[in-house]
Amino acid sequence: MTPKFIPLKDHDTPIKVLFTGYLCTVGIGYLFALIQILFTHGMADGKFGLSIDDIVYSYYGNRSGTVLEHQLNGAMKANAPEQERFAMIEWVRSGADEDEYKETGIDKIVETRCVMCHNETASGIPNFKDFKILKTYTKEDGGATFASLTRVSHIHLFGISFIFMFVGLIFSFAETTTTQYKCIAIGMPYAFLIADILSWWLTKIDPMFAWLVMFAGMGMAVSFVFMWATSILEMWFYRPVFVNGLGAKYLQWRDSQETSLPDRIWAVVKALAGQMKPLLALAKEMWLIKMYPLLKKLLKK
Ligand code: HEC
Repeated sequence: MTPKFIPLKDHDTPIKVLFTGYLCTVGIGYLFALIQILFTHGMADGKFGLSIDDIVYSYYGNRSGTVLEHQLNGAMKANAPEQERFAMIEWVRSGADEDEYKETGIDKIVETRCVMCHNETASGIPNFKDFKILKTYTKEDGGATFASLTRVSHIHLFGISFIFMFVGLIFSFAETTTTQYKCIAIGMPYAFLIADILSWWLTKIDPMFAWLVMFAGMGMAVSFVFMWATSILEMWFYRPVFVNGLGAKYLQWRDSQETSLPDRIWAVVKALAGQMKPLLALAKEMWLIKMYPLLKKLLKK
C-alpha cells in the first residue's frame, strides 16, 4: 500500500531542516521546563528532586505553617544564611508584626537578601519593598491560589497545545509507526494535558490527587520523547536504523501476522467502544421515559 502522505525521509531537505530546527528548539525548551520544575516545585519540601510531597505543598499547601517560612526552608533557602533565615522565621511565627519588623532588623535582612530580586521591576514574583505584600506571605500556606492556578492553566493549555500541534503534525508523516499507534501517540499528550491541568485543581482541593499530577506529566513526556525520536530518526537516520539497524527488527515484528498484545488490547477497546452506542441509546431512553417526566413533575410543584 502506498501511503497517502510523504514519509519523513522523502521530504525535501529544506523541510527536514525546518522540522529538525523546530524539534530541537522545542526539545531544549522542554529540558528547561524540567529544570524549572526541579528548582521551584522540586524544592518545595526543601529537598532536591520532585516528590509527591513537593506537589502537595505546591498546590494544596503545607497548612502547618506560612508561605514565607516554607520558602525560606525550601526554594529560597540559598538566598540567606541560616541565622538570618531563622530570625525571619521567628518573626513570622511571633505574628509578623510591623513594628517588630523594624525593631528586630528583619527589614534590613529583607533589604540585603531579598529585594534585589523581589522588587517592583520583577514580574511574577512579589515585591518585598512593600510591607503589605510581604505580610500576605506570613499567613497560612494554602498552596497555589485560585488566581495563580487560573493564570497558569490557560497559559499551559494554549501554549502546550501548540507545541504538540507541530510535534504531532511532523510525527504524522512517520511511516514506521502503524496508524493506530500514531493515533495514540498524537492524541495522548492532549488527554494528558487536560488531565494535568485538572489534577492541579483537584490537588488544590484534595492532596490525594498529587499522584495524578505526576502521572499526567510523565504521560506527556513519554509521548513527546516517542514522537520526537521517531521523527528525527526517520528524517536523518532511516537507513542505519530502519534498514540495517535495530529498527529493521522492529519493522519485522510490526508486520508479522501474529496478533501482538497491543493488538489484542486494541481489539478490546474497539469492542468496548462498540458497546457504547447501545448504552447511550439506553441512557437516552431512560432519560426520556423516567427522568424527564419526573423532573417536569418536580418543576410543576
Ligand atoms: C535570586 C533572586 C531571588 C532572591 C535573592 C530571593 N528570591 Fe524569593 N523568589 C525568587 C523567584 C524567581 C521566585 C519565584 C519562584 C517560583 O515560582 O517558585 C521567588 C519566590 C519567592 C516566594 C514565593 C512567592 C509566591 O508567589 O509564592 C517567597 C515567599 C520568596 N521568594 C521569599 C524570599 C525571601 C524571604 C527572600 C530573601 C531571604 C528571597 N525570596 C530572595 C527569586 C529570589
